[in-house]
Amino acid sequence: MKITFYGHASLGIEVGGKNIIVDPYITANEKAKHIDIMQLKADYILITHAHGDHILDVEAIANNTGATIVSNAEITGHYEKKGFNVHPMNHGGSWNFDFGKVKYVVAHHSSSFPDGSYGGNQGGFVIEGEHKNIYIAGDTAVTFDMKLIPMRTKLDLAILPIGSNFTMDVEDAIIAAEFLECDKILGYHYDTFGYIVIDHEDAVKKFYDKGKDLMLLEIGASIEL
Ligand code: NI
Ligand code: MN
Repeated sequence: MKITFYGHASLGIEVGGKNIIVDPYITANEKAKHIDIMQLKADYILITHAHGDHILDVEAIANNTGATIVSNAEITGHYEKKGFNVHPMNHGGSWNFDFGKVKYVVAHHSSSFPDGSYGGNQGGFVIEGEHKNIYIAGDTAVTFDMKLIPMRTKLDLAILPIGSNFTMDVEDAIIAAEFLECDKILGYHYDTFGYIVIDHEDAVKKFYDKGKDLMLLEIGASIEL
């Protein structure tokens, strides 16, 4: 499984011979100007919630690739009406896709579309594929519900927001990592806007001091599991 950071909460995942894009917000991100969304491959686009900083480039990428949009049923309903291919889910539900298994899990946040229309309940994803398991938290506070995830799935990586203001901060993300029983963390949802700028060195040290490895990738960089 290969995971690429496209800035903010945008990810690319290569797994089981398929390409997944998560929460694409690239063309309006000044820090991601070197990423050309027309070059991104996508069989699936996973969306955690309907906020603009998670769905901005969904339609452009889906139009370019024919990707299937996977999210909660309200978000997929929104895109289905526009003629896109979709797969609706909701909290606690799993589906075996052709690349692996996806579970839509609870997050504490909100989820309206930029025009104010209803975007269902925000969530995160647990993805199991190629004998590796990852958790993508989406925008969320730390929540006790995270303790349920390792009861079913031994995680190899947790992708957690760390920018504070709209989501949990570094200290809460460390608690989340403890709840998730996962020592390998990829941080995201930081630095994009003034509200969520963080001190990288301090963040990495705080995780290190708790015996955990926080990775902060350059935009466009990848890790392999
Ligand atoms: Ni959000
Ligand atoms: Mn966000």
